Amino acid sequence: NWTTTNVVEEQIALIREQVGTKRAICGLSGGVDSAVAAALVQKAIGSQLTCVYVDHGLMRKGETEQVEKDFVAATGVQLKVVDAEERFLNALAGVSDPEQKRKIIGREFIRVFEQAQAELVAEAGAAGEDVAFLVQGTLYPDVVESGGGTGTANIKSHHNVGGLPDDIEFQLVEPLRQLFKDEVRMVGQELGLPEEIVQRQPFPGPGLGIRIVGEVTRERLDLLREADAIAREELTAAGLDRDIWQCPVVLLADVRSVGVQGDGRTYGHPIVLRPVSSEDAMTADWSRLPYETLAKISTRITNEVADVNRVVLDVTSKPPGTIEWE
Ligand code: XMP
Repeated sequence: NWTTTNVVEEQIALIREQVGTKRAICGLSGGVDSAVAAALVQKAIGSQLTCVYVDHGLMRKGETEQVEKDFVAATGVQLKVVDAEERFLNALAGVSDPEQKRKIIGREFIRVFEQAQAELVAEAGAAGEDVAFLVQGTLYPDVVESGGGTGTANIKSHHNVGGLPDDIEFQLVEPLRQLFKDEVRMVGQELGLPEEIVQRQPFPGPGLGIRIVGEVTRERLDLLREADAIAREELTAAGLDRDIWQCPVVLLADVRSVGVQGDGRTYGHPIVLRPVSSEDAMTADWSRLPYETLAKISTRITNEVADVNRVVLDVTSKPPGTIEWE
């Protein structure tokens, strides 16, 4: 019978059996899934685990600081932070195709993990401990949408499944692979993770890279980061965080429209708000947010974010739309 206690005990036994006395690294993204996976593996193998947080430059405002602070405080886990912005942005230069972006990001994540692994092995030195395992917070829906389920089409390559390179040398440890998000949250609670982590809204591993429709550049990322921070701030201020599943904020970088600001003509980009309600992200409905909140977000974004002169609302359910635009 399914209880979180059973899931935790069963997974801890499986992880110990799989990893043995070797060492593992866990990619931490700041999201619920990787946090719960890390906490579970830490419970199973303790100091044989090192978490690696890759700052790929596609993060939202304040995200890196939050991981460094909150997660370490909550778990006491060993954390290695890698600044890989340059590397990811170079790899993404000139690329607009969504699947190509996803594959590049998935590949670069692995390359950074391999480098971290080599450093850890070097540090372990004479102990000669093998770092052969990579822990990922892959969920059941990630597997299904990447075409790994039975009888399902390949919708998009989630960075930790279909986006993985073929030449990966790690053995994967994926203790959440059979779970849905709400179950993962329950497991996180059982493991004693704080509310701020367990109740976080989903944020995709490829980050803002798949929320810029068009080429990803540092300027565009900065612009989107500002718009996203405003939307999140206002949703939180309105007390709506628990009413919605998540709210992607998307920059249509290749679209321009005419506007008027002050007494001058502008020719700027639109920002899309994509608030959704969902149980498990497999299907979703657009959230009926209060008009006052939408108005406030729109006014603030167009006033405060240079080069944005229009805010539009996505009123598409999933299907036919997906939650993210890419
Ligand atoms: P879609 O866009 O497929 O999104 O309707 C479903 C849920 O998955 C998240 N998502 C991802 N999460 N890596 C992740 O960790 C990914 O590559 C990825 N792609 C989408 C998305 O935010 C939504 O919650």
